[in-house]
Amino acid sequence: MRVLTGIQASGKLHIGNYFGAMKPMIELQEENELFTFIANYHSLTTSKDAETLRQYTIDAAVDYLSVGLDPKKTTFWVQSHVPEVLELYWILSKFTPMGLLERAHSYKDKVAKGISANHALFSYPVLMAADILLYDTQKVPVGKDQIQHVEMTRDIAIKFNNEYGEIFVLPEHVVQEEVATIPGIDGQKMSKSYDNAIDLFMPEKPLQKRCNKILSSSTPLGEPLDWEGCNIYDIAALFLNDEEKLELQERYKSGKEGYGHFKKYLKELIWEELAEAREKREYYLSHLDEVNDILAFGAKKAKSIADAKMEKVRAAIGL
Ligand code: ADP
Ligand code: TRP
Repeated sequence: MRVLTGIQASGKLHIGNYFGAMKPMIELQEENELFTFIANYHSLTTSKDAETLRQYTIDAAVDYLSVGLDPKKTTFWVQSHVPEVLELYWILSKFTPMGLLERAHSYKDKVAKGISANHALFSYPVLMAADILLYDTQKVPVGKDQIQHVEMTRDIAIKFNNEYGEIFVLPEHVVQEEVATIPGIDGQKMSKSYDNAIDLFMPEKPLQKRCNKILSSSTPLGEPLDWEGCNIYDIAALFLNDEEKLELQERYKSGKEGYGHFKKYLKELIWEELAEAREKREYYLSHLDEVNDILAFGAKKAKSIADAKMEKVRAAIGL
């Protein structure tokens, strides 16, 4: 099964990204033919300057490789290294009714928030359709906010196929329902925009400080604590199996430990979970040439598929 995902690189990754996006993606590479790219053309819609976009792109590559994306199993590249996607984007634009784009929730939401609209923001779903269709994608794992974009991709592909023959594979979205929303240190959804995130690769001391800031109730030491609805417990539970969760619940109920103990315990859990990833990250950060080689290798593989597809598309439409 060919599965394709796009990574929007936008700075430091946090525990919410790790459990909500990175881990589920990396698990996919075991049983599928996974295609993953860093969507830097898409990031242009929000990019501040050249240096930041370049930095975010390489950081995302390093971080995904560090947490286990395996370039031997997965085709991993930077979107702009296969610029054929832009040619397809233009061609697909002809099969994209204005009304379809005008109905896009994510565009409407952004405009409602006062973000000034430009054509790139408006036509974002067509570029996403090109990403998906260029590589004969069968499944697209997405968050709920992106389902509509995959549906639009199908609409565009159907319109094209109806006129010019069965050129495009119709993709399906897959929503990973089991991944709950990970709370931040204030109990709201963890997000880099809410200043409530625990970053993935914090040094040990700042990580402990961040854990110490997790909002908890003020039960005095010696009294049993309620693990239900406790932010520390909820984040810790992400790292634990069922048996370990029960053990932690018992520790809460025993009244022998306070929140301070559980904050230390949580820091240990995070620190240990990421030990291997941290080592790999150190390695990649000091061997950026290797990272660039991996991305170049992925781009080459992706490009050979893109080239073959574009030949068919051009021939079908008369270019
Ligand atoms: P942020 O909210 O920090 O800006 P992004 O929107 O860049 O995060 O999210 C990137 C990916 O990480 C998405 O797939 C999103 O679903 C996932 N993700 C982000 N925050 C969380 C969270 N708190 N819980 C679960 N998944 C999350
Ligand atoms: N729009 C996606 C996001 O914001 C990123 C993305 C770009 C993507 N192209 C894609 C995801 C193609 C899946 C398939 O997360």
